[in-house]
Amino acid sequence: MSVPSQYLFTICQHGAEDALKLEFAKTWPDWRLSYSRPGFVTWKLPEDTKLAPDFDIRSVFARTHGFSVGKVTGELANDLAARVWPLVEARPVDHIHVWQRDEHVPGSKGFEPGPTDLAYEAAVLIRDAQPAADRRLPINRTARSGDAVLDCVLVEPNEWWIGWHRATNLPTRWPGGVPLIETESQIISRAYLKLAEALRWSQLPMAKGDLCAEIGSAPGGASQLLLERGMYVLGVDPAEMDEQILANPAFAHIRARASEVKRSEFSRVRWLLADANVAPTHTLDSVEAIVAHDDIHVRGLLLTLKIPDWELVNQIPAYLDRVRSWGFKYVRARQLAFNRQEICVCALKNRSMRRFKPKGPPRRRRKET
Ligand SMILES: C[S@@+](CC[C@H](N)C(=O)[O-])C[C@H]1O[C@@H](n2cnc3c(N)ncnc32)[C@H](O)[C@@H]1O
Repeated sequence: MSVPSQYLFTICQHGAEDALKLEFAKTWPDWRLSYSRPGFVTWKLPEDTKLAPDFDIRSVFARTHGFSVGKVTGELANDLAARVWPLVEARPVDHIHVWQRDEHVPGSKGFEPGPTDLAYEAAVLIRDAQPAADRRLPINRTARSGDAVLDCVLVEPNEWWIGWHRATNLPTRWPGGVPLIETESQIISRAYLKLAEALRWSQLPMAKGDLCAEIGSAPGGASQLLLERGMYVLGVDPAEMDEQILANPAFAHIRARASEVKRSEFSRVRWLLADANVAPTHTLDSVEAIVAHDDIHVRGLLLTLKIPDWELVNQIPAYLDRVRSWGFKYVRARQLAFNRQEICVCALKNRSMRRFKPKGPPRRRRKET
């Protein structure tokens, strides 16, 4: 079924609207920019556009999207909630997702994306205002693939934009395209959150006992998560690792730049991560120098590519082609909700490749003093 629609809403990181515009100028050149606020961009589609409810938006920067059905404004949340349902018309709804647009760049001013009390309160009011409801709809849970989702974006507390989409891939199943990340412990750095989301989104088949290497591992939030999940970790970074990470026998630190490390150190690495604060081409050079080596059999990659200048958005397809040229068949990119001005690239050599378990912990353990 295709849905005739005039407007689409997209959610992106606060401040990444220009990246989204650059990207859509190439992917969806007929779409016209309409109402926009930081983190929330709507598009007017050409007359007679018919998009399947589960169409693929093919975007790195759109966290999630939906068909825009209107907005409600006013001071009383009860009134706003009652005015949502007439906008939804006869569309089916299995699930309600309500969220606030990002107030700041993630990691700035104490802000992290995710559920807020205000959004939850609005969701309850919307659910309870549903006329002739035969069941209480689930609120802000991960929808199932195929579920019809009523979206409500609190662009401001008194300005709610209403949309509708059918959940397909994982990010379209999460409220606002943000997974709920729960942490068991005090996190060492935000890289913990980034990697938790990257693993959830990429679904790379990493398993307990696998050996991962990370270029740019200090201070160690990502290592902390990998160690919690039972993996062995080789951290490569000239900077100091957190003591708690160094004390873990499943962790080894090579205190050097990636280019200074002998390739043989990576011979048993299954998963290669990179999170160095350098230009994207520098990260790709460092990774290529490792994975291009005949004796190295890395199965998958999770790379953070810094995008310090949004003009680099136009280079992203070339970055992904470069990763493919190393023999990785499945390559995708996304600006994760917990990323800052950067994107995550995941790559897998071969989905059917059999898992190869390393026989033990990394051979070297160099504890810096
Ligand atoms: C954003 S931090 C990494 C955070 C880390 N992933 C964590 O889990 O806490 C970037 C790191 O990249 C490191 N770095 C920069 N250039 C590097 C290179 N050529 N090789 C290895 N590490 C590098 C820096 O020393 C810095 O510690």
